[in-house]
Amino acid sequence: MASPRKIFKYVGIGVGVLFLSIQIFQVDHTNPAVRGEPNWDSPRTRELAKKACFDCHSNETNWPWYSYVAPVSWRVYNHVYNGRRHFNFSDYPLGTKEPEEAIEVIQKGEMPLSDYLILHAEADLTIMEKAELIKGLQKTFSTTPTPGAQEFKEMKDSSKIENGRDKREKAEGEKY
Ligand code: HEC
Repeated sequence: MASPRKIFKYVGIGVGVLFLSIQIFQVDHTNPAVRGEPNWDSPRTRELAKKACFDCHSNETNWPWYSYVAPVSWRVYNHVYNGRRHFNFSDYPLGTKEPEEAIEVIQKGEMPLSDYLILHAEADLTIMEKAELIKGLQKTFSTTPTPGAQEFKEMKDSSKIENGRDKREKAEGEKY
């Protein structure tokens, strides 16, 4: 029987080797070009959105050092990848098609994600800041096209931006 000390030593070496070897699976840290931003009602609204949402919902992601260290990097990448896919302030108007959802997730406290807040205290908006951001987003998107707006219809009709969901909705009948 190996002594407990030896077992600890080998387990330790094993974990170390495993940790080092997963580092070859690096994630993509590129920030794509900003294609367009909403017509912000005020610099303050953008400031709040930047503070609380931009790391995952824009092309101006701030990649911290731990986003270079697997396996944490995989989780960070996953958040940014999926965050941008759902809502992207840097890809107006296509990325911000459902602004009412952005307001809803803030109201419900679903966003920013809770594990993000552990390391980003500044993104943990106070009730007053949340109210400000919600109001600001409402104003911002009331002056810029929202779903169902003529612009989107025209773009979709010219089928330049059709994705799977657009096609499904079209198949179900012109709902928009
Ligand atoms: C740490 C990264 C992160 C931050 C910060 C963050 N989000 Fe998200 N957000 C995500 C991810 C990941 C998803 C996709 C969730 C899923 O797949 O269920 C998402 C989804 C969403 C969606 C789509 C919800 C849906 O039901 O489809 C909206 C809208 C949204 N976020 C808005 C915001 C707003 C507004 C903020 C700032 C107040 C914010 N998020 C902050 C990562 C983030």
